[in-house]
Amino acid sequence: MSSDQKEAANVGVFTAIEHAEYGHPASVLRLVERPMSEVEPGPHDALVRVSKRPIHPGDLLMIAGDKRGGRAAPIPAGAPRTPGFEGVGVIEKLGSNAAHQGQFAVGQRVMFLSGTGRTWATYSKVPVTSLVAVPDEVSDAVAAQILINTMTAQVVLRAGHNALPVPELPVTVIQTAAGSSVMRIVTALGQKIGLTMIRLVRTRAGAELLEASLPGTPVIATEASGWQEQVRSAMGSRPVHVIFDAVGGALVDDLTSLLSDGGTVVNFGWLGTGAPDLSGFAPRGLAFKGVVFTEWMNFSLAEQKQHRDMAMQLAKEAPHVFAIAGEYPLADFRKAIEHASGPGKNGVVLLTSQVGL
Ligand SMILES: NC(=O)c1ccc[n+]([C@@H]2O[C@H](COP(=O)([O-])OP(=O)(O)OC[C@H]3O[C@@H](n4cnc5c(N)ncnc54)[C@H](OP(=O)(O)O)[C@@H]3O)[C@@H](O)[C@H]2O)c1
Repeated sequence: MSSDQKEAANVGVFTAIEHAEYGHPASVLRLVERPMSEVEPGPHDALVRVSKRPIHPGDLLMIAGDKRGGRAAPIPAGAPRTPGFEGVGVIEKLGSNAAHQGQFAVGQRVMFLSGTGRTWATYSKVPVTSLVAVPDEVSDAVAAQILINTMTAQVVLRAGHNALPVPELPVTVIQTAAGSSVMRIVTALGQKIGLTMIRLVRTRAGAELLEASLPGTPVIATEASGWQEQVRSAMGSRPVHVIFDAVGGALVDDLTSLLSDGGTVVNFGWLGTGAPDLSGFAPRGLAFKGVVFTEWMNFSLAEQKQHRDMAMQLAKEAPHVFAIAGEYPLADFRKAIEHASGPGKNGVVLLTSQVGL
């Protein structure tokens, strides 16, 4: 009997990807069957049958134990870790207290954050406080990738706002890795609030792809010689006080020449190589500000609601912002990871719950 058939016949197992040690994802990850008793919901939990989950760069960094993905907690012997920070699915069972509250119902479609990771499995036990209802107009493929990337985008925008000498429009910002999933959302939200954005990608092919899929603001390829001149020409006489950066590395040195004195690089990722030379920051009063999506939890409840509403609205009216690079069954996780890690990807790679064995 295949894993798909066993699950369909409800013989008490679910399928998960797990690792017992940190290392190269292709080497340390395994597809396994686990007993359903492991995901039996407690009083405040829901059992979610997960349909799709994204492969975030942060998932791969965490599996590799790379500090750019955050702190890798020791994996206890005999208790392998299942990756995956978010996902979408259907509530299959509610714990006693959760059912009593009546906020969610069995059969309802929800997206959720899993905290320390565990959505790369066909079932997940999720605290009801982590569930968000998915409107009918939003597909599973979009819902699976909404939470972390929109939270990151809001944290980035807030850090940029806080860094402005005068928080008034017009504001011109430069974005690096502008074709990345997070930066596409930053662009879309930035356009809504009236920011003027100059977008950088590394290749001409990437620039063409981004201009075609998300038009509206200039896209400049850093592989072209004289790209900084192109940026200056796009800036015109407008100062740039803030750069939104997901590349880091040696590119930071090139970026700071475009920044006004007193300006800030808001960094949320380190896709690049090399080390920046920050020795010129102090004399020019420049700042380098790292941000992480979990800072979003510090926003007021009213702001969080406003951000969630904006994210849902964006997902409904502009689903192309949440581009899908590819979908793979869980058993093809190695192919999916290769796709997610490779260059020229347009959007998020998703793992689907068709186990495929
Ligand atoms: N701080 C946080 O809380 C947080 C949250 C979410 C994500 N992140 C980080 O944010 C970054 C983007 O994540 P994502 O999910 O949006 O990424 P993504 O969708 O996987 O896209 C990656 C993008 O980066 C570009 N890229 C890759 N290497 C590059 C390099 N060396 N120089 C310039 N561009 C490069 C790729 O462009 P090509 O087309 O040229 O390949 C692609 O457009 C990652 O570093 C991720 O870890 C951080």
